[in-house]
Amino acid sequence: MNAPWKPGAGLRDPFHAFVCDDYSFDVLRGVAAEMGWAPEKVNKGGMRNAVQSLSITASPQILFVDMSESGDPLNDINSLAEVCEPGTVVIAAGQVNDVRLYRDLIASGIQDYLLKPFGADQLREALAQAQAVFMAPRDAGPDRPHCTIAVVGTRGGVGASSIATSLGWMLSEKKKRPTALLDLDVHFGTNALAMDLEPGRGLTDAIENPSRIDGLFIERAMVRASDTLAILSAEAPISQPMLSDGGAFYQLLEEFRAAFECSVVDLPRNMLIQHPHLMSDVNVTLVVTELTLAAARDTIRILSWLKTNAPQSRVVVVANRVHPGSPEISRKDFEQSIERKVDVLIPFDLRIASQAAKLGKTLAETAKGSKVGAACAALLAETLGAVDADDAGDGKPMPKKGDSLLGKIDFKSMIPSRRKAAVED
Ligand SMILES: Nc1ncnc2c1ncn2[C@@H]1O[C@H](COP(=O)(O)OP(=O)(O)OP(=O)(O)O)[C@@H](O)[C@H]1O
Ligand SMILES: [Mg+2]
Repeated sequence: MNAPWKPGAGLRDPFHAFVCDDYSFDVLRGVAAEMGWAPEKVNKGGMRNAVQSLSITASPQILFVDMSESGDPLNDINSLAEVCEPGTVVIAAGQVNDVRLYRDLIASGIQDYLLKPFGADQLREALAQAQAVFMAPRDAGPDRPHCTIAVVGTRGGVGASSIATSLGWMLSEKKKRPTALLDLDVHFGTNALAMDLEPGRGLTDAIENPSRIDGLFIERAMVRASDTLAILSAEAPISQPMLSDGGAFYQLLEEFRAAFECSVVDLPRNMLIQHPHLMSDVNVTLVVTELTLAAARDTIRILSWLKTNAPQSRVVVVANRVHPGSPEISRKDFEQSIERKVDVLIPFDLRIASQAAKLGKTLAETAKGSKVGAACAALLAETLGAVDADDAGDGKPMPKKGDSLLGKIDFKSMIPSRRKAAVED
């Protein structure tokens, strides 16, 4: 888990547990005593208590947390990640027997999930495995294959650039993966601006002289946001059209593969039309959308386009700027229209967005400890889950689409009920 180190973290307790019922409480106290751990470190109170307690104390080596009272397990695990220090091995327990949830929780960084009621043997085994994981040497080295992640907005202004910069920041800062951020909105890009940096001439030079692109060029032309994050972007004069066949962009992505662990590409949707080949080696595509009718239509079209033109790429659908209570289209109707689920939902939060703009920091960095922060952590986990599934070659076909895209939208069901009554009259 990810929160920054707190003073005294070296003096971690070996074990803390937060459980909801008497039976689990007794089983945990018994097994903890057997393992030589203090039984009083088994607390009542489940997930909420765990988050509260860990926000003020050093995290243990192994944390057991009961999620049975949690209304939104994934969101809660992400809140836990915000307060839990790196290295803590987390075992969760709950009453929901759902393989999808299990996979999502594992992708969020937990070590194991025990279905309640669990027996002492099952618990012993999980704790022994957690101990082995905690003791195993860390930093096995950056042997991971490179991953390229494209971020595409279904409509203008949905927050695709906010997501791209946030993802770049989280990969580099939270996961310590050397990351390149490529802003292909050459005239109006905001990636450098969002981090309070000058874009420089790097990307413009690359477009004008693609033959110069090599490792050395990358090193010199990219703007460093931190030790682990570099940006290539431009603010090209709006009096000049961009003259590129896309070859320069493709070559940049090739060079990034050698120089970084991750590439995040902020890819304006018109680029898909102009330069479809840019998507040919993309491992994961984040399709960022709002919950509106127009965005539903374009999400369907873009998902279909990806299925045909970038079938190798895993897709994560991110609904951003979602107004609490009353989006134009409900999540359920939106999911029905696009025939797949929304993987991550990021609420609309004007306070955090304006704070990010004032501080010159990404949305994810500014949003720590808030609902947007938890959603950003979920976004990171989903994205890395998709990257890992891609590495493992675990086939997850995109849902089938029918012939007519517009036919997929049940327009009538989206009209609020009062208007619907009027339409039917
Ligand atoms: N979750 C959010 N809550 C509130 N405001 C947000 C949120 N996400 C992004 N914003 C704001 O929405 C605006 C548009 O965001 P951004 O520039 O990232 O969108 P975009 O999809 O890249 O736009 P464009 O189509 O111009 O490239 C910005 O002012 C940003 O701060
Ligand atoms: Mg943008």
